[in-house]
Amino acid sequence: MSQMAPAPQAPAQRTMRTRRFLMCRPEHFTVSYSINPWMHPDDPTDTSLAVRQWQALYDAYVALGHEVELIDDVDGLPDMVYTANGGFVLDGVAYVPKFRHAERRGEEELFAGWFREHGFGVVEPEFTNEGEGDFLLAGDVILAGRGFRSDDASHGELERIFGRPVVSLTLTDPRFYHLDTALAVLDTVVAPGETPMIAYLPGAFDDASRAELERRFPDAIRVSDADGDAFGLNASSDGLHVFCSPRATGFQEQLRERGYEPVPIDLSELLLGGGGIKCCTLELRGAAS
Ligand code: ARG
Repeated sequence: MSQMAPAPQAPAQRTMRTRRFLMCRPEHFTVSYSINPWMHPDDPTDTSLAVRQWQALYDAYVALGHEVELIDDVDGLPDMVYTANGGFVLDGVAYVPKFRHAERRGEEELFAGWFREHGFGVVEPEFTNEGEGDFLLAGDVILAGRGFRSDDASHGELERIFGRPVVSLTLTDPRFYHLDTALAVLDTVVAPGETPMIAYLPGAFDDASRAELERRFPDAIRVSDADGDAFGLNASSDGLHVFCSPRATGFQEQLRERGYEPVPIDLSELLLGGGGIKCCTLELRGAAS
């Protein structure tokens, strides 16, 4: 019998779920200090371009039916636009950040205040953590980054607060200093026990974390170094549309093969602060979601 080529598989059917996000219009965006390798305070920044690029992301979310809440940005806190660092929100409870660097500590009370005013339970952290920058809900577990920003002890704190298993992953490349710069969760909601699709940059993790990711997510998308360098993994997803950098061309192809629809949004100006699409997006998960 002759060897048959495997029949091409139809891409999986993906389902969009309407999300609720918190964003911050970067009216005071600039780079006045450096706390990650992308930030060069001597290089010029264009605040109006940052606002226009940000607005394109906001508009894309709204056009697809997502609900976007806003927190006001504050002069002197130029990193506030990266709302992913404003907390980790699950079951209507916000575990608020305790920033590693003094430059961002002024944001802590502002985010906590916003959550209180909007009916969320607020848990003040004992340990240093930077919210969804390092903590990503992936089905039944929370993936948690360590190595650069969040304290190891914050992972245990997170587990105690939300009662979900936390899987610690160690980041090793300073350019990928938050988990959300090296890993994206593509399925926001899955049936209990089901494994969500994720995408990650293998080279950003230590050997043990890479082995853990391979074991837990054997079907994951592994992106190229070029797409990782283009900040391709700093992407957000509604289960069908994946909002990602237009420069991550290989990643977009991988997404299409799996049945996702890439929505390219260029946030090049915000990358001067070391952030991208996911950094500008905090998911607000209410009591019932
Ligand atoms: N300049 C910010 C910092 O270094 C960028 C934060 C990016 N946020 C993120 N979720 N990766 O803290």
